[in-house]
Amino acid sequence: MIPKTVIITGANTGIGKAAAIKFASAGHKVVMACRSIERSQEAFNEAFNSSPVKTVELMQLDVSSFDSIRKFCSEFKTRHKKLNVLINNAAFFEHGKKLYQLSPDGIELTFATNTFGPFLMIELLKDVLALSGDPRILNACTENIMHFFDPKRKIELDNLRGEYKDTRKYSVYKMYGDSKMALLMLTFKMAEEYKSLGIKVNAIIIPGVKIAIETMRKMSLSYRIIAMIKQPFSLMPERLADCYYHICTSDEFVNITGQAINKHNHVMPAAQHDKGLAKTKELLSFNYIPKYAYDKEATEKIWDMAVIFSLNIR
Ligand SMILES: NC(=O)c1ccc[n+]([C@@H]2O[C@H](COP(=O)([O-])OP(=O)(O)OC[C@H]3O[C@@H](n4cnc5c(N)ncnc54)[C@H](OP(=O)(O)O)[C@@H]3O)[C@@H](O)[C@H]2O)c1
Repeated sequence: MIPKTVIITGANTGIGKAAAIKFASAGHKVVMACRSIERSQEAFNEAFNSSPVKTVELMQLDVSSFDSIRKFCSEFKTRHKKLNVLINNAAFFEHGKKLYQLSPDGIELTFATNTFGPFLMIELLKDVLALSGDPRILNACTENIMHFFDPKRKIELDNLRGEYKDTRKYSVYKMYGDSKMALLMLTFKMAEEYKSLGIKVNAIIIPGVKIAIETMRKMSLSYRIIAMIKQPFSLMPERLADCYYHICTSDEFVNITGQAINKHNHVMPAAQHDKGLAKTKELLSFNYIPKYAYDKEATEKIWDMAVIFSLNIR
């Protein structure tokens, strides 16, 4: 096995931590890109100790801050010549929070963390990715995007810079779904854009996974109760870490790009039906991607915003 260099964001808890251990124990070079070095020390030790070759690093990264992303990427490039795998796993989902929050760059915090941060990570790392033989990017999305089976549901694009922060109802849960749908749309477009560089870009549509206590504490009481009720029916983080590993290393995915992939490592097709029982069946199967994900106009708008926000603003 030729060891790959792998960056995993948000690798101190949950799926990210399980994935760091999975890649490390298989002998790959793992960079755990975490917001707090102090809080990530335990997870780092676990991943490091599981590595037969001890090639695990812990680096500071706040994905909601463009400056932090720039600093991380430039430091990564001084330490590493190439990158094989980038997993955009970190996410903001403090469900139930009513307060509209802005990132250090003045962008709604959910979108800054879940959409535009991953976009900038890819932009700044695509040169080192392109140097590796088989570069793969995996973006962590969610089954929450199934809400877009509702034809009225659209991404709230006009409120990402605090335009209506004091006057419009705000829900982190809704913004979370919007931000992950936007990430999925960017995944499809990036796959096209970076085909010539040989970079494969896919998204994994994650179902309910056991949520870390630390994450639950950040949610409002009602969401915490819902999460606790769902825990016994949720998958273990290790189960999704296995999916991350398979999608990013297996021969099966060597030529797959621009796809949404489910927990069984199957490519998910686009929904075909607009109404009736057929549409309900597609929705309830959780195996089809809502048609909105392929909306060219919305995708272009999100792409333009990602470029303007992350590349032009300093
Ligand atoms: N759990 C589920 O049921 C579920 C369902 C669908 C999709 N997903 C997706 O799966 C991925 C992993 O989720 P999880 O369940 O493993 O959650 P988790 O245990 O809460 O992990 C989230 C990670 O993201 C990190 N993070 C958040 N904001 C960050 C920032 N600004 N900069 C850097 N890191 C940041 C957190 O670090 P801190 O400790 O510093 O906060 C944490 O390490 C996420 O993309 C999530 O949206 C999860």
